[in-house]
Amino acid sequence: MIQEMRAAIFDLDGVIVDTAKYHFLAWKRLARELGFDFTESDNERLKGVSRIRSLEILLEIGGMTLDDETKSQLAVCKNNWYVEYISHMDASEVLPGAADYLRYIHSRGIGIALGSASRNAPLILERLGIEALFDVIVDGNKVSKAKPDPEVFLRAAAELNIPPAGCIVFEDAEAGIEAALRAGMGVIGVGKPSILYKADAVIAGLHQLVIITLT
Ligand code: G6P
Ligand code: MG
Repeated sequence: MIQEMRAAIFDLDGVIVDTAKYHFLAWKRLARELGFDFTESDNERLKGVSRIRSLEILLEIGGMTLDDETKSQLAVCKNNWYVEYISHMDASEVLPGAADYLRYIHSRGIGIALGSASRNAPLILERLGIEALFDVIVDGNKVSKAKPDPEVFLRAAAELNIPPAGCIVFEDAEAGIEAALRAGMGVIGVGKPSILYKADAVIAGLHQLVIITLT
């Protein structure tokens, strides 16, 4: 249920920036090295999913079973490629309306946090030049349980010093919507209503809120 928004918690990948295309390139490269194909529709299954779980899904698609040691080596290899791709990003890759909306709600005294599963979040924020827009940053380096566990959002609320019921989460992944609901927060889905139907409301992107709130 959506109540008065005292704090906003934003997922990063798919809400602030489209990194899915870089994850896709790196996973596809790994699949090719392992001898099978990986499609864009396969990539949909990895959104909001942790790095190691993503690898397990990829191996499932390729019909492969590997030991933990090999899996962690492959995860490192994929991440090295991914980091190489995202190192070339710049401010032009911030999704439309995202920076304006964050500045707008900041001007209304609303606390702003990042709540992302990604361990690469600090690098991405630095490349985009938007770290300063967040009061609090909680990413995959700070939490031990992946979404749909609510840990990342509960920690963000605690660091902002706002009770969960006063927080609204912005999420593009089903696992993230589930995590926000389990945290007792309001949740706006960013993407397709057919996929994000459990959210309190669904928008196509933050640019839609800029039109509503700034005009
Ligand atoms: C986000 C993305 C996922 C990614 C996860 C971990 O949730 O949507 O596709 O697997 O972060 O990202 P990382 O950068 O730590 O591999
Ligand atoms: Mg996401």
